[in-house]
Amino acid sequence: MAIRPILRLGNPLLRQRSMEVYAVDTPDIRDLIADMFDTMEAADGAGLAAIQIGVPSRVMIFGFEANERYPEVEPIPITVLVNPKSNVLDDTKNGGWEGCLSVPGMRGYVERFSRIRYSGIDQYGNLVDREVDGFHARVFQHEFDHLEGVLYPDLIEDPLKFGLEEEL
Ligand code: NI
Repeated sequence: MAIRPILRLGNPLLRQRSMEVYAVDTPDIRDLIADMFDTMEAADGAGLAAIQIGVPSRVMIFGFEANERYPEVEPIPITVLVNPKSNVLDDTKNGGWEGCLSVPGMRGYVERFSRIRYSGIDQYGNLVDREVDGFHARVFQHEFDHLEGVLYPDLIEDPLKFGLEEEL
């Protein structure tokens, strides 16, 4: 498959709401997911939403064994979620530094719910249903936001906690 260009902050496509997928067992969706993995791996990302390669469908991928961009975090299983849903299990939030392949070179400090349950279907049509916390919960919330047209800089409360990774 192919490494696709990643849309960057300022591109209006990133601001649209992605649409429900009605069938996962199609060549289009299979090719989309393969391209998303190629693109995410080439960029050493922790996750990617379809809209980041210009496809407004509710598909996200995430997960890694070890990640150079986030060397201090625990592994997350390699996951495909189509039409994901989630609910908050614990009202408390915690802060953490995030980056995004659509906001290259930058990091920002963002509050996220610490514990969530999410579900969706994978590329084979199987249900994925998990309760997660920590960085895993953060990654899900970040990718889910992409499906709603939200990018992490929108959520930064302290403008001093946003900048070029090399300067921070
Ligand atoms: Ni992102």
